[in-house]
Amino acid sequence: MKPLLLCVVAMAVAVSSSGDTARSDRCTPSVTTVSGTHAPVTVCSGALIFADDFEEFDLEKWQHENTLSGGGNWEFQWYSNNRSNSFAHSGLLFIRPSLLADQFGANFLTSGTLDIEGGAPADRCTNPKWYGCERSGSPSNIINPIKSARVRTVDSFSFRYGRVEVRAKMPAGDWLWPAIWLMPAHNVYGTWPASGEIDLVESRGNRDMYNGGVHIGTHEAGSTLHYGPYPELNGWERAHWERRNNRGYNAEFHRYQLEWTPDFIKFSIDDVELGRVSPGAGGFWQHGGFNSHNVENPWRYGSKMAPFDQKFYLIMNVAVGGTNGFFPDGVTNPLPKPWWNGSPSAAADFWNGRNGWLPTWNLDKNDGRDASLQVDYVRVWAL
Ligand SMILES: *[C@@H]1O[C@H](CO)[C@@H](O)[C@H](O)[C@H]1NC(C)=O
Repeated sequence: MKPLLLCVVAMAVAVSSSGDTARSDRCTPSVTTVSGTHAPVTVCSGALIFADDFEEFDLEKWQHENTLSGGGNWEFQWYSNNRSNSFAHSGLLFIRPSLLADQFGANFLTSGTLDIEGGAPADRCTNPKWYGCERSGSPSNIINPIKSARVRTVDSFSFRYGRVEVRAKMPAGDWLWPAIWLMPAHNVYGTWPASGEIDLVESRGNRDMYNGGVHIGTHEAGSTLHYGPYPELNGWERAHWERRNNRGYNAEFHRYQLEWTPDFIKFSIDDVELGRVSPGAGGFWQHGGFNSHNVENPWRYGSKMAPFDQKFYLIMNVAVGGTNGFFPDGVTNPLPKPWWNGSPSAAADFWNGRNGWLPTWNLDKNDGRDASLQVDYVRVWAL
């Protein structure tokens, strides 16, 4: 446990045993609830309940994913626990992509077999879905060509309601897809997206990509809620916001903020509100416009915030590409998008186009800093 968190716990203990001050003056109970190995024992209103300044990389807080599953979107990366792809340095966490071919050679992509299941508890494959634990390459169906990292607080910290601030700098490089987000700890309302998903920030690493005349690369950052009774019925379009920055979100650190209460969910960047949902009595069922569908409401016995009235944990990653349309076909980019989202050989098409995108990642300069998601701190406060 880090000193910061010990302070929170120690203060609560001191208050309860001091006697000279009414306990309620010093520790107002909070509506926020927490769990996990790094969650405070007592949650006082307004208290810092989880924090990391990345003076070191604490893997008790941040568990690595180890999977080839591609996030359910046939993304092109292998998430693994390797200090080439995730490391703390000078008070920052770096998540940096690299090439699988640099480790195993280019032929391995089209002819090798990668079995990532490990024997040690920390080496287990974390997501077997979508061929996530083993893949064999062929010329049209290559092994995930990029190595990257996804870390999460699934065991260390989850919480319901609170304020989150993450100070981070987005990566630049064609087809990079960084994300700082939250997923439900227990799927209380069923599997995705019935139990929700909170995307604090996502962006695209392309420095000069336009869709219908709009810069949708590094100049854009977005926040989104996913919620719905099943994957094809997801109300995210009614809970999605974007902000533009002409210098690019890769140029400076920004503070990405979430305020999550029993009445609303609000996203901000640098204290300026991006958007919010304050559902009425009909909750997210009504907000999503799901009434007209002949399907049972999984949230009917939850609060108006359901599914966002249960504990969530934090996730940070850099994904690459994928076929779900996050990178739309037909965008304008200095070097055209090398794969179609409907292509059965999307990863191979992407890899074969590397003369276009690889130089934009600048992996050989400054320790690959341009292509890295850099996180200065993560802080969570109780309401
Ligand atoms: C970690 O990644 C580097 C760079 O790709 C690679 O050379 C090294 O073998 C990897 N380590 C393990 C244990 O796979």
